[in-house]
Amino acid sequence: MPLGFGTVGLLTLLVLVWPAGALAQGPTAADEVLRGRYIFGATGGCGCHTVPDGPVNAGGRRYDGPFGTVHSTNITPDRQTGIGTWTDAEIIAAIRTGRRPDGERLLPVHPYPVFNGMAQEDLQALVAFLRTVPPVARRNEPRRITVPLFESVFLPAWLAAFAPRETPPAKAPTSGVARGEYLVRAVAHCGECHTPRTLTMAPDTSRFLAGTATGPEGATVPNITPDPETGIGRWTVEEIAEYLGTGLRPDGDVAGGLMAEVIDGTLAGYKDLVLADRMAIAQFLKSVPAVKSRIERRP
Ligand code: HEC
Repeated sequence: MPLGFGTVGLLTLLVLVWPAGALAQGPTAADEVLRGRYIFGATGGCGCHTVPDGPVNAGGRRYDGPFGTVHSTNITPDRQTGIGTWTDAEIIAAIRTGRRPDGERLLPVHPYPVFNGMAQEDLQALVAFLRTVPPVARRNEPRRITVPLFESVFLPAWLAAFAPRETPPAKAPTSGVARGEYLVRAVAHCGECHTPRTLTMAPDTSRFLAGTATGPEGATVPNITPDPETGIGRWTVEEIAEYLGTGLRPDGDVAGGLMAEVIDGTLAGYKDLVLADRMAIAQFLKSVPAVKSRIERRP
């Protein structure tokens, strides 16, 4: 059978498409690390694990709670004191369920009920990035728990009764309000600081993002619901997106304290989010129920 144009055309097409097909086989390891760095920035740079101006991810930052005192842990790839010997699955389990490979339960100071809502692909990329951060030899401090039976009785009961758990999506939403909601709730964990807590210390979901005068590390955290008087109802989506990217407020002042920390991040922060993602976050903030609650900003 003579080669008709159709066959030649098909062969040419095959030759042209072959290399592209080979490239399309999946993201390379380098792409995965870059994607992971982006997720790392979207969490605010996992800054709780870095003492201000200290080595990135080496832990040691102190957190006092009603139960006692903990220090954030070393999450660098150091094999003796960090997470260098943990498998990907073990790191992901610790991030989203708060279980260490040795079976120990992490305190929800590490917000695993929230991070549980992260998509598997994002966690996988995040882990690939964590493995590229320089290892630092720094031993974790033992926790000091002052409440009797806290870890054996109180914590499991509290988790079961009060900790609302995010559900992971099959795939991370890629655009629009759904993307914004995913970033706010599961990745950037805005509610960990901006949602007030009830007497049990669980986030008060009926006042989602309504601010608190008794935030983490004693911070005053503003109301970011769309209430025009006490929240950020008067900020435009562009202004919110600008604030998340630069810390610049519509009134000309700049973000301070813990908010400046998550915007700057460590090796990456909210500031590294692309405009589309910062706009998606702003659009989602506009959609949450407005809560009237005045939180005075500290000078
Ligand atoms: C680690 C705690 C923390 C996290 C996480 C956090 N914030 Fe904040 N945020 C603060 C604090 C503290 C302030 C007050 C900063 C100041 O006074 O300059 C603030 C201020 C703000 C403001 C300014 C509001 C105003 O009325 O001045 C906005 C908007 C905001 N945050 C949005 C967000 C969003 C959106 C997220 C998640 C993407 C987020 N924050 C995550 C602690 C946090």
